This record gives sequence, structure tokens and C-alpha cells, in this order.
Amino acid sequence: MVKVVVCGAAGGIGQPLSLLLKYSDLITHLALYDIVNAIGVAADLSHINTASKVTGHVGKDMLPEALRGAHTVVIPAGVPRKPGMTRDDLFRVNAGIVRDLAEACAEHCPKAFILVISNPVNSTVPIVCEVFKKANVFNPRRIFGVTTLDVVRSSTFVHEIKPQFEPHLNRITVVGGHSGATIVPILSQIKNVSFTPEEIKTLTHRIQYGGDEVVKAKNGAGSATLSMAYAGARFTTSLLEASVRGKRGLVESAYVYLGSPGAERNLHSTGLEYFAQDVELGPEGVMNVLALSDLSAEEEALVKTAIGELKANISKGVKFVTSAP
Ligand code: NAD
Ligand code: LMR
Repeated sequence: MVKVVVCGAAGGIGQPLSLLLKYSDLITHLALYDIVNAIGVAADLSHINTASKVTGHVGKDMLPEALRGAHTVVIPAGVPRKPGMTRDDLFRVNAGIVRDLAEACAEHCPKAFILVISNPVNSTVPIVCEVFKKANVFNPRRIFGVTTLDVVRSSTFVHEIKPQFEPHLNRITVVGGHSGATIVPILSQIKNVSFTPEEIKTLTHRIQYGGDEVVKAKNGAGSATLSMAYAGARFTTSLLEASVRGKRGLVESAYVYLGSPGAERNLHSTGLEYFAQDVELGPEGVMNVLALSDLSAEEEALVKTAIGELKANISKGVKFVTSAP
């Protein structure tokens, strides 16, 4: 039995993400939770003739039954940006939503993998971890900030200017966090492709602000939903392949707590408790955090800038939970 719960399942990301997860033969039960409309979305998806059972759960009273027995909980609940907003501007509304969902997970499915999509990821992941610490059920290997969209965008944008780079066959390492200057693509480590300094500058900026491109184009109707659903499904599938099927050698970028085994080297070099990095996935979640090494001088400088911003984002998330009465 592999039960996957989507919290925020009726939303712009939640619906296409649930559709993509309904294709997975690794999932036996897809539980869709939202504060609105999840019953209808579940009824619709349940007519698809793939193996998993689909259930819908609406409102706080139905949250425990949605979460009980969960193997994995994916959280795209919360408000998206409008033009002119930063992801940090979402903290005021989304911090409380994520904290409440995390409290319910800590109580009803403390051993589930928790995949946080809700922004600002740089702060919402520390919120989830602090809630789990408070409840004495914290396992740093099992909580992830989903930064896969930055990796997906990187490979698309690189392919656009270097057609010989095959986006499906090559992944690009993106480290740091998930907002503007905290997103640091490591373009110097792409094999068999060379860039001019100008190309590196333009690509880096486009990857860092790819989210803004979509927010601007949607003109007030939200942020990336379809590409995020794709990225969220990809990360969830990789985690299930590693944890359910025992597939080895699966590496994805994710924003993780660096108390995880193998992460000490990075903790030492950045001084941060949370950082997005390439993570090798295994049966228990994070098996190994791959070390940051051989960065170009420009990438070192970008990491330095990211660290300053991340420090503030992390501390804001941690304090939101630890300073609460
Ligand atoms: P949306 O408004 O379309 O959907 C959000 C859904 O969350 C809605 O259905 C809403 O009812 C639900 N919701 C609100 N409060 C809830 C609660 N307490 N419990 C359960 N569900 C609740 O927004 P969206 O476009 O799907 O974006 C969702 C979040 O994902 C935003 O915060 C956005 O910034 C973020 N996002 C992250 C990434 C990433 O790369 N990590 C990418 C895109 C968007
Ligand atoms: C993205 O990168 O597309 C998301 O984080 C949504 C946003 O606000 O840009």
C-alpha cells in the first residue's frame, strides 16, 4: 500500500499534479485534500482507469483521515504570487497554512515523506522541520523543499541556446534556495557544453527569475502551475522509485535540512542549516547530500550572496514556530 496525499489538491498546481500522480503505478491510494472542491476533483480523477484508488477530503475535520497511513504528503497549499510580489511576501498567509498542515502530519503520519511546494520554500521548509521537532518526530531525511522546477527550467533554457544539450538526458545542479538570488545554477559543471561569460550571466539571471517570467505573463492569474505540477510529479516519482522500488543512484536537487548524514561538509562551508543541493535518494529519503565542489569563481560569489538572503529566510521560518506561545 502506497498512499500519497496532496494537500491543496484543488488548486492550480494541485489538480494537474494529482492528474500526473494518477498515472503512477507506484501509488495505490491518492488522497486529495483541500479546504474547497477536493471531492469534485477526486470524483473526476477516480474515473481514470489506472490502478490507484482516489479519495477526496475537504476541510479540517477530514484532514486526519486524509493523512492517516500516508507514505508521502505533497504540499502545494497556499496563495501564489501576483506581479510585483516576492515569494517572501507570501509568508504572511502561507506560513500559517503550512504550519497547520505540518502539525496535522506530525500527529497523523509522522513517518511520511513531506514534500513542500508552498512558497516561500526557503522559510516553509524550516517551519515544517520546527513543527516536527516540537512534536519529537523530526527525521531530517524525510522532509524536502521541492526545487525541481529550477532544475527543469535550467535544462530547458540551456537547451534553447545550446541545442546539443539534451534536456531529458542531462540534469543540471542548482543549489541554494528557491527565490531570486538564492537560486544558484552550477552551469560550469555541465559536460560537453561551453558558454561565453555573457551567456552564463544571461542564463543565470533567467533561471533565477524564471518564476517571475510566468507571474508576469499570467498577469495577476497566479504563478507557474503546469510546469510545477510536472516538476512536483518528477520529484515525487523519483522518491517513490527510491523508497518503494529500492532503485539506487537517483539524484534530485532539493532544499533539505543539513543535519542529514553526509551533509556536514556543506554545513561547514555555508554555515547554513538548510540548503538546496543534489541529494541521493534512498529507502529512507535523503541517503546522501552530494558535496558542493569545484565551483567557478562566479558561482562562489553567487553562493555567497545566496547565503545572506537564506539566513534571513531560514531564521524567519524557525522563529515563526519557536517564538509562538
Ligand atoms: P492556488 O491558489 O491555485 O492553489 C492553492 C490551493 O491551496 C487552493 O486550492 C486552496 O484552496 C488551497 N489551500 C489554501 N489553504 C489551504 C489549507 N489550509 N489546506 C489545504 N489547502 C489549502 O495556488 P497554486 O498556483 O497552486 O500555488 C500554490 C503554492 O505553490 C503557492 O504558494 C506558490 O507560490 C507555490 N509554488 C511553488 C513552486 C516551487 O517551485 N516550489 C512553484 C510554483 C508555485
Ligand atoms: C516558481 O518558481 O515558478 C514558483 O516559485 C512560483 C513563483 O512565485 O514564482
